[in-house]
Amino acid sequence: MFINFWYAALRSDQLAGQPAGVRMLGQNFVLFRDSAGRARCLANVCVHRGGSLAGGKVKGDCVECPYHGWQFDGAGQCARIPSLGAGAKIPARARVDAYPVEERYGLVHVFLGDLPEAERPTIMDIPEYGQPGWHVQVDEYLDTVDYRRTVENGLDPAHNEFVHTTHGFSGKEGDSRVPDLQVEEHPWGCGFMTTYYSPPLHDAKMKAAAGRQGDAVVTAGTFHHGPTCMTTRINPGPGISIHQNAFKTPVDARTVKTFLVQTRTFLPGAEHDGRFSERNLFVRGQDQAVLTALEPFFTPETNRHELLMPSDRAVARYRERLLDWESRGWRLDEAALRQDDGRVARAIPSPARREQPRGWVLDPVPMVPAGRPTAARDASAG
Ligand code: FES
Ligand SMILES: [Fe+2]
Repeated sequence: MFINFWYAALRSDQLAGQPAGVRMLGQNFVLFRDSAGRARCLANVCVHRGGSLAGGKVKGDCVECPYHGWQFDGAGQCARIPSLGAGAKIPARARVDAYPVEERYGLVHVFLGDLPEAERPTIMDIPEYGQPGWHVQVDEYLDTVDYRRTVENGLDPAHNEFVHTTHGFSGKEGDSRVPDLQVEEHPWGCGFMTTYYSPPLHDAKMKAAAGRQGDAVVTAGTFHHGPTCMTTRINPGPGISIHQNAFKTPVDARTVKTFLVQTRTFLPGAEHDGRFSERNLFVRGQDQAVLTALEPFFTPETNRHELLMPSDRAVARYRERLLDWESRGWRLDEAALRQDDGRVARAIPSPARREQPRGWVLDPVPMVPAGRPTAARDASAG
């Protein structure tokens, strides 16, 4: 798992009233709205004696720890220690990490890392969001799977034919050749558009809206953004589009939360959301059945023990990007973290630690050192 990227913590409409506890990258966070309604995110561990801030209350601009009532503002600064009495001086170390927050696409995104603003990766863009002619709906999933496996699955055009009866023919049509992938590179990811030969749509309304009779050649493709996000763009019929913008947040190394922001140009009414949710759930179930049975459970650290094909080109590029981010020192040392489990509380370093590296009560999470990754990927696709 990687720090220094934006992660969707929850939906904007899920953050109101009491503080919300969210687990991301194997660490706990508290989110709340201050008196101006601005969303805030802090490391969840109270630096007094480890209270869970998410179990406390919002008091004005602060969140109050449920154990002894210390209050922390949106910048992570302790504003009140009741046991010291009114007006007492607050020690400088009485603060917790605070993370940049941005609300976009109906989601609360948190920047988990310490990079200064100018160097941060962007939040995955949805250019059509809010544009006339585009309808938006959001679905959520929680899956027991390595998030990298799910991104790789999105970047793999060959699985559609066999995993999705909705999209392919299970190999029955004979030639299932995947057209040569032209992988496009973007600043924070890569992807491709390609064509699929697909069977008729089952849902009568979707079929009518797509203006499609029988089998069809569908243009579609997937682009990843950072280690965890991806968008799949599908043109199911002439002049119509549906984009599956997936914001994936690793809860921990084995669990991923997905916020699927679907944008589409057809069947625009909210009354149609149910039929799309149903189809999304069905397709996701087909993917999960395959992904949860993969061995090894985690995306392998080297390509040597797999036999990649030209259709795996984007998968291979994604893995190279992960290595690049690892070489920058952005990868959590998960093996070292497991040793801490239940014994030591740590924090993902926030931007304030760059300015003031000293005086923090919690140590930062262990990171894989920057530099050349030890596990070089020595077999490429195609
Ligand atoms: S543990 Fe939070 S106030 Fe004591
Ligand atoms: Fe799939």
